[in-house]
Amino acid sequence: MYSDPYLHDPYLQERTAPNDSWLHRAATALALTAASVLIGLTAGTALAADHAATPAARAWTPASLRTALAALPPGEAERGRVVNQQLFCASCHGDTGVAPTQNWPHLAGQKAAYTAKMLLDYQSRLRAENHGAALMHDIAVMMTPQQIADVSAFYAVQPAPRDDGTPRPVAAQGVSAEQLVRKGDPARLLTPCASCHGVKGQGGKLEASALAGQNPLYFTRTLLNYQNGTRTNDAVRGMSAFAKKLSRSEIDALATYYADLPAGSSASKK
Ligand code: HEC
Ligand code: HEC
Repeated sequence: MYSDPYLHDPYLQERTAPNDSWLHRAATALALTAASVLIGLTAGTALAADHAATPAARAWTPASLRTALAALPPGEAERGRVVNQQLFCASCHGDTGVAPTQNWPHLAGQKAAYTAKMLLDYQSRLRAENHGAALMHDIAVMMTPQQIADVSAFYAVQPAPRDDGTPRPVAAQGVSAEQLVRKGDPARLLTPCASCHGVKGQGGKLEASALAGQNPLYFTRTLLNYQNGTRTNDAVRGMSAFAKKLSRSEIDALATYYADLPAGSSASKK
């Protein structure tokens, strides 16, 4: 039972305060870019989902999602590197998708389909769980389908983050993240995380995200958001159903497990 979990739980707070001055600078810069983008815009495509858009975007079915992702143009990583800089993604998510703050999601090593889906979801406000999502909405509506495809391709080929310096949540004794990841829990009909997210957290089919090296503060927050029903953009509410079966201690253990997971293709450790 949840009674205003945001009030007491530091992991649910977005903690943007230390970066606020920074945020204002970014917002100003973005507004300027927006203005120039708008002036240069011939077709109105990027404006399709502007501020006045209806908040309740239609939920994905597996088929509608497949169609939407297939409709995106092919992405090109080198062009995506430019998008990451020009649209200021880099200032919040880092030059290679490793976020410089302790609080925001890393995008490096992320599956292109997942990143693209998130940008579409932010555009349509299907994903609208917090201030970060509102901010991302303002940014995503300025993006063309080509920019979405390119920036997604760029992050996908960056090495997953490692040792991001964020403090790890401490789980209660006796909770085994590895068990949940590899075996799940048949008693609770909990499918192993690895069957969708890959044994090394490298991501799976379609939009099943990479989790290796993810910032544990973000990881915990977003699982709690699925759990308490504020994050509802997942197709057929699949991830929400899993999140609801997890205890807080299990979420903490999983956040630490994935944050420290050696990334799939990186052989530099051990
Ligand atoms: C001013 C800071 C800022 C800028 C600039 C910014 N982002 Fe974000 N981004 C965020 C925050 C905050 C979140 C959400 C964090 C949360 O949900 O707790 C986010 C979330 C995301 C996510 C979802 C990550 C996940 O794992 O689900 C993607 C994808 C993303 N941003 C891509 C981009 C791209 C591409 C750009 C540039 C076009 C960009 N962002 C620019 C702050 C920013
Ligand atoms: C049946 C497949 C499936 C299983 C099993 C599954 N997931 Fe997911 N997970 C997904 C999909 C698909 C998404 C993307 C949902 C969306 O579009 O928001 C996702 C998203 C997530 C995210 C959000 C990623 C981000 O960057 O915001 C986290 C965290 C996550 N899963 C953790 C887990 C953990 C931990 C487990 C095991 C307890 C698990 N998942 C089990 C399919 C699965």
